[in-house]
Amino acid sequence: MRISTIGCGYLGAVYAASMASIGHEVLGLDVDQKKVDDLNRGIAPFHEPGFEKVLQDALEAGRLRFSTDYSLAADYTAHVICVGTPQLIDAAGADLTYVHAAVDALIPYLAEDAVVLGRSTVPVGTAASLRERLRAAGRENALAWNPEFLREGFAVEDTLRPDRIVYGLPEDPAESARARAVLDEMYGTMLENGTPLVAGNYATAELVKVSANSFLATKISFINAVAEICEATGADVSVVAEAIGLDDRIGPKFLRAGIGFGGGCLPKDIRAFMARAGELGVTEALGFLREVDHVNNRRRDHVVNMARKELGGSFTGKRVAVLGAAFKPDSDDTRQSPALYIASKISGRGADVVVTDPAANARVHAERPNLAIAADAYEAAAGADIVLLLTEWTQFKELDPVRLREVVAAPVMIDGRNVLDPAAWREAGWTYLSMGRP
Ligand code: UDX
Repeated sequence: MRISTIGCGYLGAVYAASMASIGHEVLGLDVDQKKVDDLNRGIAPFHEPGFEKVLQDALEAGRLRFSTDYSLAADYTAHVICVGTPQLIDAAGADLTYVHAAVDALIPYLAEDAVVLGRSTVPVGTAASLRERLRAAGRENALAWNPEFLREGFAVEDTLRPDRIVYGLPEDPAESARARAVLDEMYGTMLENGTPLVAGNYATAELVKVSANSFLATKISFINAVAEICEATGADVSVVAEAIGLDDRIGPKFLRAGIGFGGGCLPKDIRAFMARAGELGVTEALGFLREVDHVNNRRRDHVVNMARKELGGSFTGKRVAVLGAAFKPDSDDTRQSPALYIASKISGRGADVVVTDPAANARVHAERPNLAIAADAYEAAAGADIVLLLTEWTQFKELDPVRLREVVAAPVMIDGRNVLDPAAWREAGWTYLSMGRP
């Protein structure tokens, strides 16, 4: 299948390379010339394990290219919208500017039998409105929604071996059949390998994505709320999570208490979902997501308060080492990162904050010039009055408490991700504090 992806950010670039790796001819389109040039040279514009290899192999095989020239789309059959839908600057809803721009850019070059597919996470109702947009421009092309569920850090794997494939199909039978035929061919190998396929209408497919992310966010905030109760009672949230997770109706995943969720998806998706419910006149249906968001934000402030208490009530003149800046390990993405929120807040309160992250240092340097950057944990912790572990990179999980103790001014560790062994750290002379554990 000849596939063009519109938008070569994280989602689009990974999708383009992954689809080329399973034999499709793929054209990645983007308005950013530098990004396109880097991708054509096999250089990943972001940190994602395994991506560069898939990218380079597909380029070498001659099945993948990137361009800013949208007229090239005329030779392709499936056009996949992969642009971002960030939170609006002044409201909770999703900003659809890039989605609209992608469709408008495609319209002049759509071949008669071409199919438009959407992978971006969008508010329910968007696919129907885009179909109207095509019709208003005189285009009769089939449009379907095909949400993605990839996790950063596992993006290639999640694209090539998804838990499920979801089709959101148009009502018109002929249009639906055309879209389905193209989708079935695109995902032929995955479907043959037994990947479950779930099909519904547009609204259903759109809701699958936002419901999945909202459920995951709810699970994290649920366990973080339990962590708050643990802190008030002396219970251990990691043992509670282990025990409830053994019930296979609950399951152990996404029950890691800590400083909460961040990233380019969960925070903005729950807010956009709430905003959309408001527009649909069913605000109360998602009222609980407001609490999910509140619990999540409280955990960040909780760490700031814990650190201030340990420092005797004030950050002024104190040196604080922050281990981690990305919103999760194996990523350089700092969007809505709890770690960076905490680092910035503490810096704003007068501390001398030194951040280190195995992948996000350059990004932090560019985006938060007020934060000092160190090459590694030992350099960051040199002379520190307190150390905060905020992103659970393997490098930090494997830190040597004895060696780290030698470089700090005071051996106080707040483990915001509950990944260190409390006994080992206390034995090495540290005041060790974590989240929801005694
Ligand atoms: C998420 C969804 O998992 C993915 O399916 C969707 O397509 C995009 O959004 P991602 O944003 O890459 O993926 O990150 P995810 O692994 O879900 O983690 C989100 C945040 O939750 C991270 O900040 C992580 O540290 C935090 N988290 C995750 C917890 O605090 N506790 C957990 O138990 C799990």
